[in-house]
Amino acid sequence: MATEGRKPLISGNWKMHHNHFEAIQTVQKLSYQLTSADYRAVDVSVHPPFTDLRSVQTVLDADEIPISLGAQHCHWEDKGAFTGEVSPLMLAKLDVAYVIAGHSERRDLFGETDEMVNAKVKAIIAAGMTPIMCVGEHLEEREAGVTEERVSSQVRAGLAGVTSEQVAAMVIAYEPIWAIGTGRTATPDDAQAVCAAIRKVVGDAVSTEAASAVRIQYGGSVKPTNTAELMAQDDIDGALVGGASLDPDDFSRIVQYHLAE
Ligand code: PGA
Repeated sequence: MATEGRKPLISGNWKMHHNHFEAIQTVQKLSYQLTSADYRAVDVSVHPPFTDLRSVQTVLDADEIPISLGAQHCHWEDKGAFTGEVSPLMLAKLDVAYVIAGHSERRDLFGETDEMVNAKVKAIIAAGMTPIMCVGEHLEEREAGVTEERVSSQVRAGLAGVTSEQVAAMVIAYEPIWAIGTGRTATPDDAQAVCAAIRKVVGDAVSTEAASAVRIQYGGSVKPTNTAELMAQDDIDGALVGGASLDPDDFSRIVQYHLAE
């Protein structure tokens, strides 16, 4: 479990699900389930599609719901001729707090490279938001025994040129690609081993201060039934939840893992 100073962060990545009406309903239902004790114990963010952000922001704001607004992606330039893209400044203006960078679906389906992820991480920070930088290995890489090597190189490349203080304040999500949306989860021991390796790389590549402060999430088929066990690991400070975050009952049970402690 997150040690001193690393408050757990549970994030719901809705991917391309929920239109803005459904998004409003989901976040309202979630807010009925969560209590001030939950928000004291855990930071919570939801990452709806771009078209929902304004609606969700309005609800969070009007009802004073302490859930942070998140985005799933952005471009690294402030503005320009980039048809279809959204700028970090536009997200910051909507009170977006966290932006996912380098999710494996963006890397694998939309060709995002380590260099692009690095540019996005810097741009998100420059706009005053917190990146959730995703790293993770394919099944073949795990089977070939190169998981740590793969993940380490993604971490090094993604953090290039980011200051120690900035890394300390950000979030890294370890998401083994074979566990995303498949119902297969890394065992808590395996997930812990890779998260510990990530923390070590941050120590080597950035600083020991950044390594001990950076929050590391696990993602990949997180469910109400496996959250407590994953969160009990020393180097796991949160969860990036896809499928199970679409349902407010499931997602609130995930956030409430802390009640079982
Ligand atoms: P999943 O997705 O929880 O549906 O496996 C996780 C993610 O892609 O962030």
